[in-house]
Amino acid sequence: MSKSTNIHWHEGNLTRDERWKALKCQGCTMWFTGLSASGKSTIASALEQVLVERGVNCYRLDGDNIRFGLNHNLGFSAEDRAENIRRIGEVAKLFADGGAVTLTSFISPYSADRDRARKTHEEGGLKFFEVFVDTPIEVCEERDPKGLYKKARAGEIKGFTGIDDPYEAPQNAELVLKPGDKSLEDCVRECLDFLESRGFIKG
Ligand code: ADX
Repeated sequence: MSKSTNIHWHEGNLTRDERWKALKCQGCTMWFTGLSASGKSTIASALEQVLVERGVNCYRLDGDNIRFGLNHNLGFSAEDRAENIRRIGEVAKLFADGGAVTLTSFISPYSADRDRARKTHEEGGLKFFEVFVDTPIEVCEERDPKGLYKKARAGEIKGFTGIDDPYEAPQNAELVLKPGDKSLEDCVRECLDFLESRGFIKG
């Protein structure tokens, strides 16, 4: 629901199909979700590189990075995480509408928030694919590239996902990746195969 009144939707002069045909692109959103240090950003970055090198219009939105700009006023309370994911759901939808294969890498710990991002895409006639980066917490904690699990265990970060804040694993993700068992190349290959099977890229 919008807080504004007296606003009117202004249709452009182009349909989405006309845009995608003219620009030779096809948008969708691949929504990577998983614990901190599960490998979301690493996989999304590698996938983005391969896609762009192939000439696919692809753009990545990253949790940590977005919190430096658009979402710099949000923290990690449940309300702020919900608003973080709401905004990214809307931004991803705009990128996908524009014709980009849009990759989002956010912990997005709450199912309801992810479902809302899915709903806004589907209502807009856009494909939304949930990608569960299913790395066990023991592996994430062992990796701990930013030393955050250590800080959370020491009580220096409160409300850290997986330690003293919940992570609701997806039940019906379109794709499940297991970077704990597989190489980065294998995970990227699975994403490429998936996009190919759905007709978003050619083999
Ligand atoms: S989300 O929960 O709102 O989706 P988001 O993906 O934007 O989170 O940001 C997560 C990143 O913020 C983590 O990878 C980590 O680097 C950092 N971070 C800092 N504090 C926390 C916290 N309390 N819980 C989880 N991640 C945190």
